[in-house]
Amino acid sequence: MHLPIVTPLALLATSAFAQTTQLFNFTSYVDIENGIIRPNGHLLLTTFSDGRLFTLDPLSPHPEAKLIATFPGATAITGIASIGPDKYAIAGGVRGSYHYTNETIYTIDFNTTTRDTNPNTTVQAVAHLPNAVMLNGMAALPAHPHKVLTGDSRLGCLFLTDTATGETDVAFKHEALSAPANASMPIGINGLKTFGEYVYFTNTARGTFARVRITPNGTVVGDVQVIATLNAEGDDWDDFDFGADGTAYVAQASNEIVRIGLDGSQEVVVGGGDSNVLVGPTSVHVVRGGRSAYVTTRGGTVDGVLYSGQVVEVEL
Ligand SMILES: *[C@@H]1O[C@H](CO)[C@@H](O)[C@H](O)[C@H]1NC(C)=O
Ligand SMILES: *[C@@H]1O[C@H](CO)[C@@H](O)[C@H](O)[C@H]1NC(C)=O
Ligand SMILES: *[C@@H]1O[C@H](CO)[C@@H](O)[C@H](O)[C@H]1NC(C)=O
Ligand SMILES: *[C@@H]1O[C@H](CO)[C@@H](O)[C@H](O)[C@H]1NC(C)=O
Ligand SMILES: *[C@@H]1O[C@H](CO)[C@@H](O)[C@H](O)[C@H]1NC(C)=O
Ligand SMILES: *[C@@H]1O[C@H](CO)[C@@H](O)[C@H](O)[C@H]1NC(C)=O
Repeated sequence: MHLPIVTPLALLATSAFAQTTQLFNFTSYVDIENGIIRPNGHLLLTTFSDGRLFTLDPLSPHPEAKLIATFPGATAITGIASIGPDKYAIAGGVRGSYHYTNETIYTIDFNTTTRDTNPNTTVQAVAHLPNAVMLNGMAALPAHPHKVLTGDSRLGCLFLTDTATGETDVAFKHEALSAPANASMPIGINGLKTFGEYVYFTNTARGTFARVRITPNGTVVGDVQVIATLNAEGDDWDDFDFGADGTAYVAQASNEIVRIGLDGSQEVVVGGGDSNVLVGPTSVHVVRGGRSAYVTTRGGTVDGVLYSGQVVEVEL
């Protein structure tokens, strides 16, 4: 089955005003890259600031990000996926200009049951990927959650890593995952998630939101289907999440969250225009049965003021 390539509806230039609440922002500059919701409802936040991982309780009256782990040998951590009960895989490396070195897949285990049995399971470097250039989004295979797919924004591929053995292979390499040779920002695949039988991804340089079908063991079958194409020049798509029906909510790096319907239609949920409610959104986490989402941001300079990374709740 092929989805029709839908021409996106023209986005309005004015701001969209969903109800928002800033839950937390860092006071010194911290660029939040991605996150995940823990079984206890807390958020884990991956950052570019010395590869620090934070945890934050969004339901606390005054949420504060607390440092929970650092990763030996990494200056930046990016994608994160759940690989077991309160256990995660995280991609990290030494950040350079669109080129990382020492790209590594780590695991971290917050489950006290398993931690008490073997304290050394807490943070482990399970796989080194010497050929990787820029690991970005990550997703676990729903049927085999200890296996993760990680996108490489520069190589235009998906690596498949067995976090139990460290074995890593290139699962898929395709133009749809890479940036065009003449791209001003050479970032191809960025956000990555599995939903149903598909792996969905954004491609920043191509401005696409697309999917490809995978088997339960992560073998890609079928063709890449482009669901939506970004129509605003100078903007780009980052990480995203799904509502229960498959509606996607994508972080659009200037200042917007965009809802992409199953038919590929696009609508700005919040941000746009000169709104600075969200400064550089990087990831979206749908919560409360789809009624709201936690959005992370990387911050940035607006009207000469440097804003730090935020966590903002947005009503959907
Ligand atoms: C690479 O990462 C490993 C941990 O995975 C660390 O021990 C090592 O020091 C790092 N190397 C460099 C050059 O940063
Ligand atoms: C910890 O792991 C055990 C065994 O896998 C599981 O039953 C339990 O729910 C986990 N706890 C949390 C907090 O995820
Ligand atoms: C944990 O790691 C330390 C240091 O490498 C080692 O001495 C110790 O035996 C390990 N403990 C277990 C339970 O594996
Ligand atoms: C890149 O090349 C394509 C194909 O030649 C062209 O359509 C596009 O405008 C170019 N983009 C940039 C940013 O130069
Ligand atoms: C993965 O699934 C495909 C298709 O079902 C099958 O051909 C292949 O043998 C499987 N590979 C492994 C390693 O199980
Ligand atoms: C944190 O958020 C407050 C409220 O929006 C804002 O006034 C302040 O400038 C922000 N600080 C940083 C460092 O981003």
